[in-house]
Amino acid sequence: MRIGLAGVGRIGAFHARTLLGVPAVESLVVCDADQQAAAAVAKELDAEHVADVETLLRAGLDGFVIAAATPAHAPMLRLAIEAGVPTFCEKPVAHTLEETLELARLAATSEVPVHIGFQRRFDAGYRRVQEAIAGGELGFVHTIRANTHDQSPPHASYIPTSGGIFRDCNVHDYDAIRFVTGREVVTAYATGGNKGEAFFAEAGDVDTGAAVLTLDDGTMCLVSSTRYNGGGHDVRLEAMGSKATLTAGLDDSLAMRSAEPGETFPAGPPHQTFMDRFQPAYVAELTAFAEVAKGVTPSPCTVADALQAFRTAEACDVSRREGRVVQLAEVPDL
Ligand SMILES: NC(=O)c1ccc[n+]([C@@H]2O[C@H](COP(=O)([O-])OP(=O)(O)OC[C@H]3O[C@@H](n4cnc5c(N)ncnc54)[C@H](O)[C@@H]3O)[C@@H](O)[C@H]2O)c1
Repeated sequence: MRIGLAGVGRIGAFHARTLLGVPAVESLVVCDADQQAAAAVAKELDAEHVADVETLLRAGLDGFVIAAATPAHAPMLRLAIEAGVPTFCEKPVAHTLEETLELARLAATSEVPVHIGFQRRFDAGYRRVQEAIAGGELGFVHTIRANTHDQSPPHASYIPTSGGIFRDCNVHDYDAIRFVTGREVVTAYATGGNKGEAFFAEAGDVDTGAAVLTLDDGTMCLVSSTRYNGGGHDVRLEAMGSKATLTAGLDDSLAMRSAEPGETFPAGPPHQTFMDRFQPAYVAELTAFAEVAKGVTPSPCTVADALQAFRTAEACDVSRREGRVVQLAEVPDL
């Protein structure tokens, strides 16, 4: 297969390397607004590079991967759907709810497969939690705790166009909660704070966030995020039920240390970035995308799925700014 990739920053260069390891992928063409960066990645990977996304979409592609900065997602996805090219798009689908709704409508009326990059759906631990809840192993689930704690912040220029911590980081947790429980969020109360560098507050964002969500079956979810988790990259989901509790991300590389005397768990080096934490999941999601692009399997995470996670992020952002509980019904839907 011939795959095109737009955006060769942190995740784009990583996806480019991963794609070249997917057996179905024979050739890769990249582009980036920063032409030198595109040329450098193409040289390193023995791939081709072109000047812009319009040229890329005319390069005889079997599939297209959008890994550019968030504001570029919506225009690129629109062009790809119009060009009829199966597309993998990094989360979030768009920078704003309005654009996400527009893309969800466009995708719903199109035959072009679109797969959104929520890689936790391909992580072995999250999948095991999903199976256990669906199979009744946990009894009734009363509480979910989910977190995205980054070891250190991204570069300062990333933050003003990121959409804020709920749309950028916790959107993964909101999607994972829907994925493992099969339920929808009905209310959100969120708050946040800034103790780190000034550029978060200057962009109207927070460097640490927390939310309480309720699901349509009464399950409570406690969701947190931070850009300053010095102990390492800590991403987990705990599902607590009337019969048992199961946790995704509880392994020897857990980015925490026990305060109990003599306790050695977790013993391994803590995860440092999303790349080492989710490496097998990224391989699995891009391998799945090749099957989606071939038309062998349907998209495992559609624009409609991503819209629901984004609506929860939107509700959390409104809640934090207005200091009140937000009903999801207040947030526009399809
Ligand atoms: N799924 C995940 O775990 C995960 C992890 C990190 C980032 N992301 C998402 O991936 C996207 C990129 O994040 P990043 O950390 O790599 O950012 P980054 O800032 O490191 O890289 C973004 C790249 O996009 C390029 N770009 C911007 N506008 C462009 C345009 N119009 N055309 C072509 N290239 C353009 C920039 O030049 C840059 O090279 C974001 O949407 C982010 O939310 C997802």
